[in-house]
Amino acid sequence: MKFSRIVGMGSCLPGAPVSNTELIAARGIDSSDAWIVERSGIRNRHFAGETQTTADLAFEASRAAMADAGIDPGAIDLIVLATSTPDMIFPSTACLLQSRLGIHGAAAFDVHAVCSGFVYALATAEKFIRSGSHRCALVVGAEIFSRILDWKDRSTCVLFGDGAGAVILQAADAPGVLSSALHADGSFEHLLSVPGTVCGGHVVGSPYVQMDGPAVFKLAVKVLGDVALEVLAAAGMARTELDWIVPHQANVRILQATAKRLGLGMDKVISTVAEHGNTSAASIPLALDAAWRDGRIGAGDSVLLEAVGGGFTWGAVLLRL
Ligand code: ACO
Repeated sequence: MKFSRIVGMGSCLPGAPVSNTELIAARGIDSSDAWIVERSGIRNRHFAGETQTTADLAFEASRAAMADAGIDPGAIDLIVLATSTPDMIFPSTACLLQSRLGIHGAAAFDVHAVCSGFVYALATAEKFIRSGSHRCALVVGAEIFSRILDWKDRSTCVLFGDGAGAVILQAADAPGVLSSALHADGSFEHLLSVPGTVCGGHVVGSPYVQMDGPAVFKLAVKVLGDVALEVLAAAGMARTELDWIVPHQANVRILQATAKRLGLGMDKVISTVAEHGNTSAASIPLALDAAWRDGRIGAGDSVLLEAVGGGFTWGAVLLRL
């Protein structure tokens, strides 16, 4: 078996939805529902409770994905978890998740590519399976971005939310993953970062998200369009053969601009940004699971996953479900 295929998926959104109006009132943010909706398309987001951790959200999403696939934890021989908000500096959140799932001995590691994390994790797991070294991967995107937001910075704090999504990727005789592409350009480091670190027992530098929103917007539309065309060409597929695009859910205007660049209508784009906000590495598996569960995406559909994030990183995975 030299291919891999998604055989199950699941997700987790903590707590009740928090509307723009509720967030603004709770945090004393100088903003409005109208501004947030017009500039980002976001209406609600979910936030983890004080004692919840990224591994907790990952665990719930993973359990749902395993149930969907009808497999036991013992079948998993690889865990790749994408996050920029790990529970600890180490061990990796993948190892913490592995322990909670009662899995022993399977390879487990984190991928740190910010909002492109899930695409990086899925493309990585696919290569492990295609090489023949592993047969069944749990691929997770999980984030608690609310812990790295500066509530005094209205240009970032209204955009993000928390959550997790997971898929089971199994060895298969026919291709589920048709092609993938990963890219990065560290010279754009300054556009989007959390520049702080822990050193000598103290936080050194800012532990909060800093972003040049308009510059990120322009770059995102360009690289997402380019990488979409790259994976389509690699699979020998025309844009018109695409059933669905499941993009990273950063901003509805980025989703619209990317669809337009590909000459596709928004009826082909799964958009959950209004209800989830930007959940970074969790946004694609959350959106994929939502569309799978409500029946929009079905077995046999061709699906393009594409993302851009801090680093800068970007990438895409083209799937047949
Ligand atoms: N409420 C009200 N006003 C605000 C807010 C707010 N929450 N935030 C900013 N403003 C003001 C600004 O201060 C500015 O006011 P000024 O003209 O008086 O100076 C005005 O709104 C316009 O600000 P811009 O930053 O130019 O607004 P823009 O239309 O570019 O929208 C936004 C900002 C939503 C951040 C947009 O640039 C964007 O979405 N960029 C991409 C961000 C993104 O997708 N990041 C994530 C990608 S990667 C990842 O997910 C980690």
